[in-house]
Amino acid sequence: MKNARPLFCATLITLSVVADSKPSILLNCGAPAPDSDLDGRIWTPDSGSEFSLPSSSESVAAPQQVSSVAKVPYLTARIFTSTSTYSFPLAVGRVFLRLYFYPVNYANYTATDSFFSITAVPYTLLHNFSASLVADAVGSPYITREFSLNVSAGVLNLTFTPSSTPNSFAFINGIEIVPIPDIFVSNNPILITDAYGKSISYEIDPEWAIQTVYRLNVGGRAITPRDDELFRSWEDDSRYIFGAAFGVTYSNDPNVSISYPPQVPTYIAPTEVYATARSMGPDAGVNLQYNLTWILQVDAGFYYFVRFHFCEIQYPITKTNQRVFDIFINNQTVQKYADVIAWSGNIGVPAYRDYAVITMGSGQMDMWVALHPDVAAEPEYYDAILNGLEVFKLQDIGSNSLAGLNPESVSHPIVGSPNEDVSRKNHKPVPAIVGGVAVLLVAFCLILLCKCRRKKKVVACHETSSCCASPIPSNLCRHFSITTIKAATKDFDESLLLGIGGFGKVYLGEINAMGMKVAIKRSNPTSDQGVHEFHSEIETLSKLRHIHLVSLIGYCQGNSEMILVYDYMARGTLRDHLYNSQKPPLSWKQRLEICIGAARGLHYLHTGAKHTVIHRDVKTTNILLDENWVAKVSDFGLSKTLPTLDDTHVSTMVKGSFGYLDPEYAWRHQLTEKSDVYSFGVVLFEVLCARPALVHMLPDEQVNLADWAVHCQKNGNLVYIIDPYLKGRMAPESFEKFAETAEKCVADVGADRPSMGDVLQNLEFALRLQEHTDDDGEITDGIIENAILTSMVESSTTTTITKMIRGRSFASEVLPYKRSLALSSHRSLIRAYSCS
Ligand SMILES: *[C@@H]1O[C@H](CO)[C@@H](O)[C@H](O)[C@H]1NC(C)=O
Ligand SMILES: *[C@@H]1O[C@H](CO)[C@@H](O)[C@H](O)[C@H]1NC(C)=O
Ligand SMILES: *[C@@H]1O[C@H](CO)[C@@H](O)[C@H](O)[C@H]1NC(C)=O
Ligand SMILES: *[C@@H]1O[C@H](CO)[C@@H](O)[C@H](O)[C@H]1NC(C)=O
Ligand SMILES: *[C@@H]1O[C@H](CO)[C@@H](O)[C@H](O)[C@H]1NC(C)=O
Ligand SMILES: *[C@@H]1O[C@H](CO)[C@@H](O)[C@H](O)[C@H]1NC(C)=O
Ligand SMILES: *[C@@H]1O[C@H](CO)[C@@H](O)[C@H](O)[C@H]1NC(C)=O
Repeated sequence: MKNARPLFCATLITLSVVADSKPSILLNCGAPAPDSDLDGRIWTPDSGSEFSLPSSSESVAAPQQVSSVAKVPYLTARIFTSTSTYSFPLAVGRVFLRLYFYPVNYANYTATDSFFSITAVPYTLLHNFSASLVADAVGSPYITREFSLNVSAGVLNLTFTPSSTPNSFAFINGIEIVPIPDIFVSNNPILITDAYGKSISYEIDPEWAIQTVYRLNVGGRAITPRDDELFRSWEDDSRYIFGAAFGVTYSNDPNVSISYPPQVPTYIAPTEVYATARSMGPDAGVNLQYNLTWILQVDAGFYYFVRFHFCEIQYPITKTNQRVFDIFINNQTVQKYADVIAWSGNIGVPAYRDYAVITMGSGQMDMWVALHPDVAAEPEYYDAILNGLEVFKLQDIGSNSLAGLNPESVSHPIVGSPNEDVSRKNHKPVPAIVGGVAVLLVAFCLILLCKCRRKKKVVACHETSSCCASPIPSNLCRHFSITTIKAATKDFDESLLLGIGGFGKVYLGEINAMGMKVAIKRSNPTSDQGVHEFHSEIETLSKLRHIHLVSLIGYCQGNSEMILVYDYMARGTLRDHLYNSQKPPLSWKQRLEICIGAARGLHYLHTGAKHTVIHRDVKTTNILLDENWVAKVSDFGLSKTLPTLDDTHVSTMVKGSFGYLDPEYAWRHQLTEKSDVYSFGVVLFEVLCARPALVHMLPDEQVNLADWAVHCQKNGNLVYIIDPYLKGRMAPESFEKFAETAEKCVADVGADRPSMGDVLQNLEFALRLQEHTDDDGEITDGIIENAILTSMVESSTTTTITKMIRGRSFASEVLPYKRSLALSSHRSLIRAYSCS
């Protein structure tokens, strides 16, 4: 302890000496006189400075209409119509170079005409760069670019070159140069996985040019340059969190202060980064179910250097193996057994870890950064933590370039509604293999499209989803204040959590004024898709009222909150009553009644309202049950309204849930109500077999429930895969009617599927058949009694099983690799007999 203090002071002195000897350069381009920014730093004008300003330039002022833009350095600019260079004499070593752009029309220069390159020989920093397109894509009026360069020649020449497009020009609002220590020193060996899946060690060349792409204060507020000794900005990370799984954020325990160990110099990151964190949450069960994931859009085709900042800041985590997790980047494991205390030694002590990743392709892609508890380590808490995250782009070694492509223009979407265009852009897969498959798929879809164009008119991309531009129909449902919502949920108390869905967290709430229990769905305020689905759900639900549709009571929007308030469904989702839960199994009659209710709700959607509404996400988790077991269809976030009654389908981006997705829709992108019928057929099989629509662990042919059930049904084997609880409890006729209906629903071709109305009639008939038997008081021993195994012939290559079910004979040939399965169902048959 005695030694620590003088050491700390010595570091401080050295640093201030460094800062004094290499002052920052702050250039307010085009400005007439020195001025100070919001942090009180003085920016000097570029004209009349020592940095040899080129003559072929013009200083201009921005039109003064925007109050959200800081005056310094944004409201003046320098414009270049031909190649021009600033020359900065600098000491040898690394600097941060920050470039500030405010793309508006300056005098007679139109922002959208501007395309230009910036080089710092030998590095290309930006190429054919459109500040206007980038600003549009990120939704900000101004943008900055931060580079880190190692100046070796004692001078940094920054050259602006307008592209050769008509009326093009280059411009810059501000230039900042900050000498920095070598921050790219790693505390851990860096591995990178090469194209052959082999991990090789990786080092950053001290001469490389590096661009900062993201710098996030995870779980904390944005940090401005004033609070960072290298004048860095740190962004709040919440807008990059994937889905609704935000985890929880917190700051340091008052008794814990941040103390930097020798291997983590204070300039690595400010105290405030380490003093706040995001973790997965208090519930180990929930944490095991999800990945805490950030999605960061990056330029494809570059190497990235990703730095994670960690610090344990809350008791009781003070020892190793208490919180251990895995780190994934782009779905690859980059770190197992991540244990912050093992790295840092103690609570309150920062640590950082660096990883490198390769990306392929070109254009924009999403970088996935994810954390998940490491189960293998058997830690005390199944949880993960992160305090800060930085993503750096490394120069291309061949071309010395850091330049990526401009984002696609957002104002001119090519396909689909503006909202779908955004979601499509954000999730564009880039790897070459995916590209190859996509090309094939597109070719195939084109052939199909051409074929069907001849037959009937294809409605291309008419979508009535202008909802994001139009205000919410306030006359249709009630608006709640955030205060009311917070009171109703005890400020979103986790103990009131009913579930976490793709769109948000759902809480149980009580609205006092109405004296009723409600379900409150709080959505991820930052995802574009979230905004679209939010409005879509309000629009759809507020126009539809039906006993078998969940009622929307109201909504709350503002302060970046999107909250929907529904009738509370006391018995939860249908799936909760089918499998993977402690709930008692439903009787066959109850299951039939629930399916009939849901079918009525869907039938109403398809035919009852003014326009046909296609739900697009029919599944057992979207069928809810109230206290009287009345089924209600919910979650209209993906629903689509057909434009007019004459249109039979719309072409759209494929959305929905795997396992329930209509194959025809998936291939042809044409949405009709028969897509819902397909999904509903999967629901029927799920109800019958009490297993999920997809189970990846099963043998290939059994993974997809619809395929497997149809296969079994065709061979007369369906009875062997039904919910064992139902065996002997179903009227055989009822079972047969139900199975036949489900099979028709999942027909490959939409035209072969029944309408929702037909499905409803058949299910009602199946219910009558069951009730008839129940009323007769006849003990229904069920279908198993009726299956008689007549023969089982084994040859060297196949096994043929013949059996009689209700007088019909089914012979099925079973290939050897499926034989064990056939034998096991044979065994269960024998067991069924011997039990009765
Ligand atoms: C803008 O006007 C200036 C003269 O005021 C002229 O020199 C320049 O060429 C014009 N630029 C464009 C893009 O029209
Ligand atoms: C920088 O520019 C100056 C003048 O334009 C030139 O003399 C010098 O050689 C350049 N230096 C480098 C390293 O490009
Ligand atoms: C800059 O590059 C030189 C080699 O040209 C290297 O010796 C030096 O360590 C580098 N400095 C930093 C801060 O990376
Ligand atoms: C901080 O430590 C003191 C003394 O150990 C203790 O009394 C106090 O409760 C602690 N405060 C918190 C917030 O843990
Ligand atoms: C990672 O996996 C998710 C979901 O499985 C997928 O959507 C995403 O494209 C993958 N990301 C990358 C970079 O491969
Ligand atoms: C977490 O991400 C990894 C890598 O993408 C993936 O393999 C794993 O299935 C994910 N786990 C969960 C629970 O989503
Ligand atoms: C410059 O970027 C624009 C917009 O991304 C693009 O249309 C144009 O083809 C590019 N020009 C060159 C020369 O790359």
